[in-house]
Amino acid sequence: MNILIIGGAGYIGSHVTAEFLGSGHNCAVFDNLSSGLRENLFPQAGFIHGDIHDYSGLLNAMKSGSFNALVHLAASKAAGESMLNPEKYSRNNIIGTLNILNAACEAGIKNIVFSSSAAVYGEPQYLPIDEKHPAMPENYYGFTKLEIEKFLFWYEKIKNIRYAALRYFNAAGYDVKGRIKGLEQNPANLIPVIMETACGIRKEMQIFGNDYDTPDGTCIRDYVHAGDLASAHTFALDYIMKNDRSITVNLASEKGYSVTEVLETARKVTGRNISANITGRRSGDPAKLYASSALARELLGWKAKYSDIETLIKTSWAAYQGLTINSK
Ligand code: UFG
Repeated sequence: MNILIIGGAGYIGSHVTAEFLGSGHNCAVFDNLSSGLRENLFPQAGFIHGDIHDYSGLLNAMKSGSFNALVHLAASKAAGESMLNPEKYSRNNIIGTLNILNAACEAGIKNIVFSSSAAVYGEPQYLPIDEKHPAMPENYYGFTKLEIEKFLFWYEKIKNIRYAALRYFNAAGYDVKGRIKGLEQNPANLIPVIMETACGIRKEMQIFGNDYDTPDGTCIRDYVHAGDLASAHTFALDYIMKNDRSITVNLASEKGYSVTEVLETARKVTGRNISANITGRRSGDPAKLYASSALARELLGWKAKYSDIETLIKTSWAAYQGLTINSK
């Protein structure tokens, strides 16, 4: 199949592109390289340097390759920033997605795989979180992802598209085959922050609170490997096309690790001290977050393979030892 991967030069997008290429599909990446990186582009995939805000450029790209499907990963994704600068999230996530949906309809691309997020759920009312859990986002980023899911729902009804909305939990880790060379710039997420500290890019890191109601007092999260997320995209596209049906599923490892457990594993794997200070809580952090991925297992036959804590850290460490930061 021919697949257009919008945001394919980014962290998850590059893993998704590697996976589709590895499954024998023809891929073209569409990316404005604002956070995506040139070294994440694969010579086997076409590259269109474009912006989702340029409707005619987007439409031309969609008409250029007899695409059977598109994957939409182009978004701003920092929950904290979204509360300070909601305009950016309205523009990039909401307006950008509406451009993509409208252009896809005009270009006749009916199948869409969308990167949604666990952020649509907000503060957990019960654990593990399944897809029936109420969706009440606690930050504007999560709100934008939920709104996009609603647009997809209506475009399915009215324009007959089919979609898979994939609600990622805490994405982490790097390609087990070492194909992804570009590292995220200025990361704020736990594992890349730990890696930057292990490499000496940061002198020390902060643990945001150790007085939560968890066994060691630090927050528990469900980390899912980027390679596992990527394989779910291929399964999901296959599913919606074969079954002519849209789906919304969680992608999670179904295991929870605390900040301390992640840090201790990183110290063991890297052999580095990784200096960490305990500071106050970060606002909006729930104590525990982990999910059920039973629906993805049942519908897609998908299961996380690389999302154990050792593999998450080992693959991250391998990528950070390559140290290809800052080259666009
Ligand atoms: N943390 C630290 N120090 C840091 C960074 C993080 O202690 O320097 C802690 C956080 O307080 C939290 C845990 O590590 O307890 C994980 O934090 P992340 O920032 O890595 O991830 P979040 O759980 O806040 O959010 C991530 C994505 C969201 C997504 C969510 C899904 O950033 O977009 O996972 O579960 F919605």
